[in-house]
Amino acid sequence: MRAPIIAANWKMHKTRTEAADFLQRLGRHLEPAPTWFDSGEPGAGEGVQAVVAAPFPLLETAARAAAGTGVLLAGQNLHPATQGAFTGEVSAPMLRDCDCSFVILGHSERRALFQESSEWISEKVAAAQEHGLRPILCVGETLEERESGATETVLAAQLEGSLALLNAAQAEELVLAYEPVWAIGTGKTATPELAQAAHAFLRERLRKLLGEASAHAIRIQYGGSVKPDNAESLLSQPDIDGALVGGASLDPDSFYAILRAGATALPR
Ligand code: 13P
Repeated sequence: MRAPIIAANWKMHKTRTEAADFLQRLGRHLEPAPTWFDSGEPGAGEGVQAVVAAPFPLLETAARAAAGTGVLLAGQNLHPATQGAFTGEVSAPMLRDCDCSFVILGHSERRALFQESSEWISEKVAAAQEHGLRPILCVGETLEERESGATETVLAAQLEGSLALLNAAQAEELVLAYEPVWAIGTGKTATPELAQAAHAFLRERLRKLLGEASAHAIRIQYGGSVKPDNAESLLSQPDIDGALVGGASLDPDSFYAILRAGATALPR
């Protein structure tokens, strides 16, 4: 059983006021909690999970506004050390202290713009697990890599490198996000068939790395120009267990529409 997980990646957007307004409006859609939604109440655990990854300065406000809605919070990055002289960085315990349950790691924007290697990301994955944060690990190929036929080699290298220090006992807590770089913020969504093929490939690699049970349990999100009108066709694919949404997650009505589409991925 893989409960669908739909996450909003706000990237570097919104003020505290806007964050609170978003969560109040989203909360109104979720009150009373729809039957397909995982509200966090006992017995609701197999519904669609909603996660909001907010910039660090908004997390405390977001936590207050999300209380009681069932919406979970995520950080967008962390530093592997617990504390220390790392100006500008944020640790896993700090994110836990701000009520985060998840953390996005290895997003292609961090890999490309901040030169993050899979080796460095593997340290972050281990730190997240050590402190009770569930990693949302992103992998994805560029257009050039896809056109040169290197997609599977790139995905396998990112996956295996980033999971090198994974605590296998907690493997099922991991969420993977397949985000083809050419589909991010471009309006060019991968077709459901193309995304499904990449997801099936990733699940097969997970099987080799972590065994059948973990590979079956780990949820794989698709990310890259997910919108209310294409979410259902993507989420109905057998290996697509959720979505990581950028632009369309900034508006609560549009994010809610994608959450509702997550119900099509039930049950797994
Ligand atoms: P868009 O949905 O804006 O394409 O962004 C996807 C993404 O990068 C989510 O992490």
